Amino acid sequence: MNKKVIRQPFLRVELTPPGDKSIAHRAVILNSFAGGKAHITHFCGGADCLSTIRCIRALGVKVNRSSAFPDVVDVWGVGHNGLREPENVLDAGNSGTTTRLLAGLLSGQAFLSVLTGDASLRSRPMGRVIKPLRLMGADVQGRCGGQYAPLVIKGGPIHGISYSLPEPSAQVKSALILAGLFASGQTSIIEPAPTRDHTERMLEHMGAPLKRQGSKVTVSRPTTPLRPLSLKVPGDISAAAYWLVAGAIHPDARVKISDCGVNPTRTGIVDIMRAMGAKIVVQSKQTVGGEPVADIIVGPGPLEGVELEGDVIVRAIDEVPVLAVAACFARGKTTIRSAGELRVKETDRITQTAHELSKMGARIDELPDGMVIHGVGRLKGAVVDSHGDHRLAMSLAVAGLVATGVTIIKGAEAASISYPGFWDDLEGSIRH
Ligand code: S3P
Repeated sequence: MNKKVIRQPFLRVELTPPGDKSIAHRAVILNSFAGGKAHITHFCGGADCLSTIRCIRALGVKVNRSSAFPDVVDVWGVGHNGLREPENVLDAGNSGTTTRLLAGLLSGQAFLSVLTGDASLRSRPMGRVIKPLRLMGADVQGRCGGQYAPLVIKGGPIHGISYSLPEPSAQVKSALILAGLFASGQTSIIEPAPTRDHTERMLEHMGAPLKRQGSKVTVSRPTTPLRPLSLKVPGDISAAAYWLVAGAIHPDARVKISDCGVNPTRTGIVDIMRAMGAKIVVQSKQTVGGEPVADIIVGPGPLEGVELEGDVIVRAIDEVPVLAVAACFARGKTTIRSAGELRVKETDRITQTAHELSKMGARIDELPDGMVIHGVGRLKGAVVDSHGDHRLAMSLAVAGLVATGVTIIKGAEAASISYPGFWDDLEGSIRH
């Protein structure tokens, strides 16, 4: 599907972003083996989270999502030993989170599972999760000696380990936490930098034996089934990011994002945009289901280039493509390092962001672990391609809103992986 985006004289954005994708995955997975029914609202209906629902249903768990209320999901937890061997291969679609978290969960189940997904997923590194799972005694195989899906998991007795993650990864951390809930003894995971901690927060609420000490999290097998966790999923800050950047670079924008998750492990985008000079107000903060939620208001401001690396990049890892768009409109150059992970996301997001934005007149130099974006101050419309990557599709749309002329985005449907209403929200922001 192609989408045409034309430069807009003004932007008026007032919305609640779709439910957080990371939290929605976890709400279904963790509740699947809790001891009762959980009621989840503001569920992210993106294709990735639907992949998780499909896989969890295949494990014998009743999950209801009616077409009349697609953002409401009920999960009937089957208890700690209630998951069943799937009759067929589990299809995680495009979702790395589904694959890696389920690899951890399935390692400790006394049955065989096969996990696969689309071509992009089958090219993403799985060794990072298989390696520590094998150290726990799990029998997990994958293509190329365990590097790639399809993964074959012959679940069975596993034991706890202490593992220092070589790279920051919430997916690997969460996979090991899930495995640890089904392992004998204690499982400790030590992070080199703080990654999103939604799994830990939810498990704490569900009564799991989980302890956090600085960069270390320790779990063990619960003696009673976990309490089901009903929750309203906070708005996804990674979806809000497109509007935050649009609001900061458009000369006549008013952007108010309501009920947005502001977990500090996810707010790198706010800190970075503020450091660049954007006027961002975070207000009405409250805690919902253990997660901080707030309204975010953005106004245009002259942006300056910045140097970014380290922890803040981990806290903004999915937002780097749209940050690159912001940096095109900043004075001076913006350097992004410590983002080598982007090369193994749904696409190589360093190469593809640089390549597609340069068709619009951006000047971006690739670095092995990031990029240098020269603040050119303007972009021009062009025919660009998402390469099937949702974050790239939406970042290019933001660029199109401020570029001169017409921008055609090929593969625009990719947005629905995490933000099915994105194109409608974009229409709404210009039709006032
Ligand atoms: C996610 C973790 C991040 C992120 C991804 C979602 C999660 O990946 O990029 O979109 O829900 O745990 P890594 O853990 O691989 O860094």
